[in-house]
Amino acid sequence: MTQIDWTGHPPFGRQVSLKHTLELLQAHRGERTPLIVELGTAETYSPDGLGNALIAFSWYAGKYGARIKTVDIREGAVRNAREILKQYIPEYADIPEITNADAFEWVTTLHEPIDLLYVDAGFELVGEFNYRAFVKRHPEIPSFYVELHNQFDPGCFHSGSLMLIDDTNPDTYDGKGIFLIPYLLDRGWRKIDLRGVPVFPMVLLEKA
Ligand SMILES: C[S@@+](CC[C@H](N)C(=O)[O-])C[C@H]1O[C@@H](n2cnc3c(N)ncnc32)[C@H](O)[C@@H]1O
Repeated sequence: MTQIDWTGHPPFGRQVSLKHTLELLQAHRGERTPLIVELGTAETYSPDGLGNALIAFSWYAGKYGARIKTVDIREGAVRNAREILKQYIPEYADIPEITNADAFEWVTTLHEPIDLLYVDAGFELVGEFNYRAFVKRHPEIPSFYVELHNQFDPGCFHSGSLMLIDDTNPDTYDGKGIFLIPYLLDRGWRKIDLRGVPVFPMVLLEKA
């Protein structure tokens, strides 16, 4: 596969890490059309902040071919994501399948290999309102992301699957990956050195 030519791409945030991740996906994809799955969709247009990763994924998919599934528990976020795509990347706005659901239930409907999973649904930041709401619904579950991972059909992850975890310190794993990363490192995943900027920390894992 050719290298990604980023010329003329629309604005999106967390650009250094998202570009590096998509470059690795591109290098590993072979002849397949990769599937990108995002947990927590582009709720607000803020290319300097949240990221709007869906813009990056959609642009990549339009240029090089990929399928995208993204999910959000809030109907408003799903509506906003569609509007953001239509406004900022109209030619590829229809590529992502955007679903309004709780990721915890929705991931059980996936039964196909995932090439890149972007984990950005907002939990594991204790004190966040989403986390408190989740704990109310599932008080028996100590870690949202570990349990969410265990909801997936194991066949979704294959050798070379990438998992990008947002808002996580790459050294201490403090943030969304605090429980999930050590759990996965014990189960055949490895950490990839990811380019990034400290203010928007992310961690990338690859399944061996
Ligand atoms: C940080 S934002 C996502 C930002 C987006 N990935 C981007 O790059 O712009 C987190 C989103 O996760 C959603 N969310 C929180 N809990 C969720 C759950 N259980 N299932 C699906 N989405 C969830 C929130 O509604 C919110 O829109």
